[in-house]
Amino acid sequence: MKPVKVGLLGLGTVGTGVVRILEGHQEDLSSQVGSPIIIEKIAVKHADKQRSIEIDPAKLTEDPWEVIRDPEIDVIVEVMGGVNGTREFMLEALNCGKHIVTANKDLMALYGSEILAKATEKQCDVFYEASVAGGIPIIRTLIEGFSSDRIIKIMGIVNGTTNYILTKMSQEGTSYEDALAEAKQLGYAEADPTSDVEGLDAARKMAILGTLGFRANVELSDVQVRGISSVSKEDIAYAKRLGYEMKLLGIADRDEEEFSISVQPTMVKKNHPIAAVNGVFNAVYVFGEAVGETMFYGAGAGEMPTATSVVADIVAVVKNLKLGVNGLKSIVPYKPKKLKSDEQ
Ligand code: HSE
Repeated sequence: MKPVKVGLLGLGTVGTGVVRILEGHQEDLSSQVGSPIIIEKIAVKHADKQRSIEIDPAKLTEDPWEVIRDPEIDVIVEVMGGVNGTREFMLEALNCGKHIVTANKDLMALYGSEILAKATEKQCDVFYEASVAGGIPIIRTLIEGFSSDRIIKIMGIVNGTTNYILTKMSQEGTSYEDALAEAKQLGYAEADPTSDVEGLDAARKMAILGTLGFRANVELSDVQVRGISSVSKEDIAYAKRLGYEMKLLGIADRDEEEFSISVQPTMVKKNHPIAAVNGVFNAVYVFGEAVGETMFYGAGAGEMPTATSVVADIVAVVKNLKLGVNGLKSIVPYKPKKLKSDEQ
């Protein structure tokens, strides 16, 4: 049982969760895949920083290339976030024949097709379940669970920070600023929370869901975006009086071969299940021609929920390694399609 070796890029909130799960669930994970899965090296910004978990200092490096080019490593797990550098790291990792697991929605929304094309060329896996809706396995569901269906509509609360803020404002009368500060404190918000509150983070996730659900090439620029920074407590109270909850909702609609995708503050009727999704929780509603209505619910951000998806992707890579089918299962065809928004 030769161990499968993982190289971790980043040891922030999600990276710490990945270490905790790989260590805490090691016995169960090894028995599922038939090999121990061990962390060989971790690239961090500051090797001597105080951490909430104990890490063998010999595993730490401040040079990501050392991890990416280590011939011992089979799988690169990217949990650094951002697109500066990560695109190059991912392309080089694939050039070195490494499989990739990433939680990076920015990277996949902007460079997903390039990275997946390189992965096909190199016969490597790229899994990115944690990039959308944290702990909810929605990417796998769209690729595999609904491979038989034609998806007509996807609606999502896919940003935990804004849902946390709107819930606090609605239920406790907390100010926008205080609720945002709490979301940052809890590790939900992005390094620059502008992308949360202005709807960009949700737009990136909706571009990924639209690509997978509609099997089309949805670009980030195809998503019309408006965030919550101009939503006041008065707007929320007014919506409530009318029987609605205010949610930052992503809506992807298909009409024959045309699509439209948007993210905006939306008044949702209180009796719709999406209206009851509160706090950091996310939900994705999927309507398929054959299946009809479905809805998926769970924590959309935070250390352990997001790490659950990352580690599930590592397990998927290792199972493919055992079967010798890497590079065959993670790819979804990217076919450019015309979007309704092109005509506007
Ligand atoms: N800032 C993101 C959110 C983190 O609040 O949903 C998870 O992608």
